[in-house]
Amino acid sequence: MNPTPRPDMSANAPSITVDLPTIKVPDHPQWPALSTAEKEALKTEIKTLLKQRNAVLVAHYYTDADLQALAEETGGCVADSLEMARFGAEQEAETLVVCGVRFMGETSKILNPEKQVIMPDLAATCSLDEGCPADQFSAFCDQYPDHTVVVYANTSVEVKARSDWVVTSGIALPIVQHLAERGEKILWAPDRHLGHYVQHISGAEMIFWPGSCVVHEEFKSVALERTRRLHPNAAVLVHPESPQNIVDQADVIGSTTALIKAVKEMKNREFIVATDGGIFYKMQQMAPDKVLIEAPTAGEGATCVSCAHCPWMGMNSLQNLAQVLRSGENAIEIDPAVRERAVKPIQRMLDFAKTHGIGMQNKGNA
Ligand code: 13P
Ligand code: SF4
Repeated sequence: MNPTPRPDMSANAPSITVDLPTIKVPDHPQWPALSTAEKEALKTEIKTLLKQRNAVLVAHYYTDADLQALAEETGGCVADSLEMARFGAEQEAETLVVCGVRFMGETSKILNPEKQVIMPDLAATCSLDEGCPADQFSAFCDQYPDHTVVVYANTSVEVKARSDWVVTSGIALPIVQHLAERGEKILWAPDRHLGHYVQHISGAEMIFWPGSCVVHEEFKSVALERTRRLHPNAAVLVHPESPQNIVDQADVIGSTTALIKAVKEMKNREFIVATDGGIFYKMQQMAPDKVLIEAPTAGEGATCVSCAHCPWMGMNSLQNLAQVLRSGENAIEIDPAVRERAVKPIQRMLDFAKTHGIGMQNKGNA
């Protein structure tokens, strides 16, 4: 496919004036190195504790490879955020141990209020969630009462509770297309890049909250052009949280699951990958003979302290997973009244996915 550049949509989009909070991006955690024997001992302990607690691991593709492998070995799930949400709801286990970022744990708890949901580190957040405070967002929505409010899953429980639909990157486009066909105007939050991409394809009438992902923001267009020249036969895979000038160079644009699927199914031998490097574990597992190249970031001059690696996803490790299973601490608690409102737009998304057969077979192996 030849990438087709398009006009900068952000120039035409209605802009809003909100004083967004300054997001404190942590350094990527440096976990003490473990010897092979220490690692094996921790894994054995975690497996025993999972059984004792009747618990199951639900891990995102961006987490450490050891955690993804452990989730697979113990009958848990490694997936994108849509499948993580669905997987938890299908489990008989009493405890869901969510290795990912906080909104993923909260979504699991919203869908499974009767289960205990714990996370290795409750401080593992997301720049999109941090950049969309519920009170400011609610005031923004109040200005557009005739718009359908569609929010990305990477948001707080309170923001979800203010929405009509929750979407993940794996289902955002079909849902917005569906709403556009019904003639609905859309208020979209918080990721403006994903929003602009979806608007470009669907033609929907949309206004945007100006949020972004600090990890995907760091992919650089000129450097990517250079990398493409060096690898002319490589397919370019891009997560739609990336800026438009990166998306415009993509051969495949999609959720983490869609990008893994592309590596497995496309004939190309080389792939330039513009998303968090944690995804390489599953890509390599699915297609061991393929060559994966990280899309270039700003490197030294970057504002992101850990380019192409989400520092919040990096807060999950074997060490703190074992600790949380020993102690049972770090449980997600949600106000029942807010949960009651937040579950409706999430359930709407899951029902839509079921009716339209979206992502139903993607559990763990893309
Ligand atoms: P996916 O739903 O595509 O896994 O994306 C979640 C995310 O946070 C990407 O940065
Ligand atoms: Fe949030 Fe970006 Fe990290 Fe995904 S990669 S969890 S969008 S900060």
